[in-house]
Amino acid sequence: MPAVVVIGAQWGDEGKGKATDVLGSRVDYVVKFNGGNNAGHTVVVDGEKYALHLLPSGILTPGCTPIIANGVVIDLGVLFEEIDALEARGVDTSALLVSSAAHVIAPYHRTIDNVTERFLGKRKIGTTGRGIGPTYADKISRVGIRVADLFDETLLREKIEGALDQKNHLLVKVYNRRAITVDEVVEELLGYAERIKPMVTDTAHVLNEALDRGETLVFEGGQATMLDIDHGTYPFVTSSSATAGGACTGSGIGPTRIDRVVGVAKAYITRVGEGPMPTELFDGEGERLRTIGGEFGTTTGRPRRCGWYDAVIARYASRVNGLTDLVLTKLDVLTGLEKIPVCVAYDIEGVRCQDMPVDQHAFGAAVPVYEEFEGWDEDISGARSFEDLPKVAQRYVRSLEEISGCRISTIGVGPGREALIVRHDLLSN
Ligand code: GDP
Ligand code: IMO
Ligand code: MG
Repeated sequence: MPAVVVIGAQWGDEGKGKATDVLGSRVDYVVKFNGGNNAGHTVVVDGEKYALHLLPSGILTPGCTPIIANGVVIDLGVLFEEIDALEARGVDTSALLVSSAAHVIAPYHRTIDNVTERFLGKRKIGTTGRGIGPTYADKISRVGIRVADLFDETLLREKIEGALDQKNHLLVKVYNRRAITVDEVVEELLGYAERIKPMVTDTAHVLNEALDRGETLVFEGGQATMLDIDHGTYPFVTSSSATAGGACTGSGIGPTRIDRVVGVAKAYITRVGEGPMPTELFDGEGERLRTIGGEFGTTTGRPRRCGWYDAVIARYASRVNGLTDLVLTKLDVLTGLEKIPVCVAYDIEGVRCQDMPVDQHAFGAAVPVYEEFEGWDEDISGARSFEDLPKVAQRYVRSLEEISGCRISTIGVGPGREALIVRHDLLSN
């Protein structure tokens, strides 16, 4: 029985939620190990659409234990709103477990996220404004608040006093905002303590014991490789480890326990927020992908920037994550195109590069070198086996497999749970 890590191989919104959800009832635990409510995972079950932010996709599978592990940053208000909304729709959320070591997003983190972006002006990152960056910054600076602190009012107050000491100077003197009082923050956070208490535990211990019993664990990444704090397009990234290594540090299991690392990639590519994107399309073709693919953010509603599949990024993702499999989603969105361009290399100031450049300047200057593949007209949304696909679509998938350096185990042909082609089972060795 494997431990499987599912991560984004591009800039997010690849369909990780759906990829996790379809593993279904054979999974005992689904673990969110990084990020927070900057994520937005849409899962469609029997025509019903669920948008998950903080809750792992396993919440929709009866019998599966969803876990919010230590690497996540939690906005408690959002957590309970999301739980209440799901409960109102008849989803049982009572199995949810939350790590006592996860960090808490406080109101001042959200404020600082937004004022910093405004201050940066045209150098802004285009964050989701959820307080993610400032919360991780406090974690690394050792002035963060952890879930366990909610149960010790004296300690909580002390920590918030310490954090606000510096932050109020910043808010008042640099950003011209009002100071935040210790009392208002303590009161807000304590207001959630009783309700969260029964869910809180040492999740690393729970997960290691589950592995010892041979149970099946899926680690569901938020964000993606190109948004990873170390391996992404810094500084236009999120503030957590969204690559496969983050599954270990973010949950407390060792690397030797992971059997599979699955990257999720669209048959094209999208990005939300600022930063370079070599294959971005500014013309009608980009608009077509956005409209047919429904490329609008699940979290902020922002239109996603769209472009052709970038095999340089795919090879890079394969390498830094040690991918064993790729899940290729949204193949159906390409139906009707006469030719499908794929970026196979970059031209950087006259030099052809097969590999991801390491510096920001070179990546910003990268011009895609395209190879064109033949398109197809047939509706493929009903295809359930590889052979059901038109020959040219099969060729497109095989070519992506070859130039991406990783086998494509599953292919998405529509948003629904059932709309996929399984070539290799992700849960068997
Ligand atoms: P995530 O953040 O990686 O979980 O992805 P999002 O949920 O933000 O965005 C992916 C979108 O594509 C969602 O609206 C999904 O319902 C949808 N989707 C996933 N797989 C497919 C697919 O194979 N075909 C189509 N047409 N839509 C898909
Ligand atoms: P899922 O899990 C796409 C982007 C933001 C911004 C940058 C930093 O749904 O794939 P942050 O608020 O994290 O500090 O913003 O990262 N971003 C995402 N883009 N999908 C996501 O999540 C994202 N989470 C953050 O747009 O560019
Ligand atoms: Mg998303």
